[in-house]
Amino acid sequence: MKKNFLNLGNQPIANSFLSSISRSSLKKEYFYKLIICFNTKNFLVSVKDPVNPKIQYTDQYAHRASESQTMREAFRKIAIKLQKRFKPKKVMEIGSNDGVFLKNFPKKKVVAVEPCKNLANLTKKKFKTYPFFWNKKLSKKILNENSKIDLIFSSNTISHIPNLKETFQAIYDILSNKGVLVIEDPSLSSIIKINSYDQFYDEHVYVFSALSIKNIVEEFNLKLFDIEKISNHGGSLRYYVCKQEKNYKLSSRLKKILKDETKLGLNNFKTFKKFANRVYKSKKKLVALLKRLKKENKKIISYGATYKSTTVFNYCKIGTEYFSYITDTTKNKQGKFTPGMHIPILPPEKGFNESVDYAYLGAWNFKKEIMKKEKKFIKRGGKFITHVPDVRIV
Ligand code: TMP
Repeated sequence: MKKNFLNLGNQPIANSFLSSISRSSLKKEYFYKLIICFNTKNFLVSVKDPVNPKIQYTDQYAHRASESQTMREAFRKIAIKLQKRFKPKKVMEIGSNDGVFLKNFPKKKVVAVEPCKNLANLTKKKFKTYPFFWNKKLSKKILNENSKIDLIFSSNTISHIPNLKETFQAIYDILSNKGVLVIEDPSLSSIIKINSYDQFYDEHVYVFSALSIKNIVEEFNLKLFDIEKISNHGGSLRYYVCKQEKNYKLSSRLKKILKDETKLGLNNFKTFKKFANRVYKSKKKLVALLKRLKKENKKIISYGATYKSTTVFNYCKIGTEYFSYITDTTKNKQGKFTPGMHIPILPPEKGFNESVDYAYLGAWNFKKEIMKKEKKFIKRGGKFITHVPDVRIV
């Protein structure tokens, strides 16, 4: 049974940055109700009514995975590690974005699946790219044109696809018998522990845990056999899934994480009700802090126009009355306005200057990288604000 535990209100599509805030473009802005629920049977946490993927993953899709140094390095390292451990002859990535992972493999070995045409266009000259949504029809098409796949990698994508049944059946069909599926997604335990409720937005239809992934893949004759904790996106899990148990032994780290998640109560609805209460308190505290700083005539901006901050701004109803603007390094976000709250986005070289007193860390998951980069700002007394793990000035 699915039970609701968190209502984050009316939300826009997190990646739909607006080129103009004219009356006619605002009229077209799409909103949906972001309600989060828990499945008491398989322990899966999900968005109650997911948005149609065709509205989300368009040829205007803004996110470039290679935009951050942290992520470029993370994808390079995992590519080398997987190559060494599984020695795959054929590698496929579901949701290949701008090719930041696949570019680490020999060109002939790889198959890219990416439904956003603007991103698929970036990789199609370099390697075989299928510019379509992942489903059984596509799996069949790829199989007709290639051998079976030994390594399927998917980072921050499986949790975005509403139809899990079709997703895993299509994976089962194309995976070689000894093949391995590796999935990376934000981890539910991190969200609960650090109160990062902004991990809930339209694209994150599911937030997985080891407990829920184990139950789900077993429904499709697949087996979770290993797992790793990774720091990406503020705390993620990397799941290793195979077809045949006999080829891969259940790792002790998987047993440990399953035990830890049970201890944390990720199989218990009560845990999520308590979490929802903490989220509400976080909202109150953040708004109170911004109000106080504004009263003191401080200039506040936001650092990083992230999808996560779309959830925070729209849930807390904070916009240009608090933030003068947002700075972001992504070219195709610059000059635009944030979804829902319509805060203007500037390139850092224009906006991150002497006049800024406080910068809210929209990209809190890159805190280390940002702190390193912005030493000058900190040295001259500039301060960052974060809501993770608690609302505070850092
Ligand atoms: P993400 O958390 O959804 O990957 O988005 C991170 C955003 O933050 C992305 O648009 C780039 C931006 N960003 C900056 O503007 N400056 C930085 O130093 C970093 C690391 C990210």
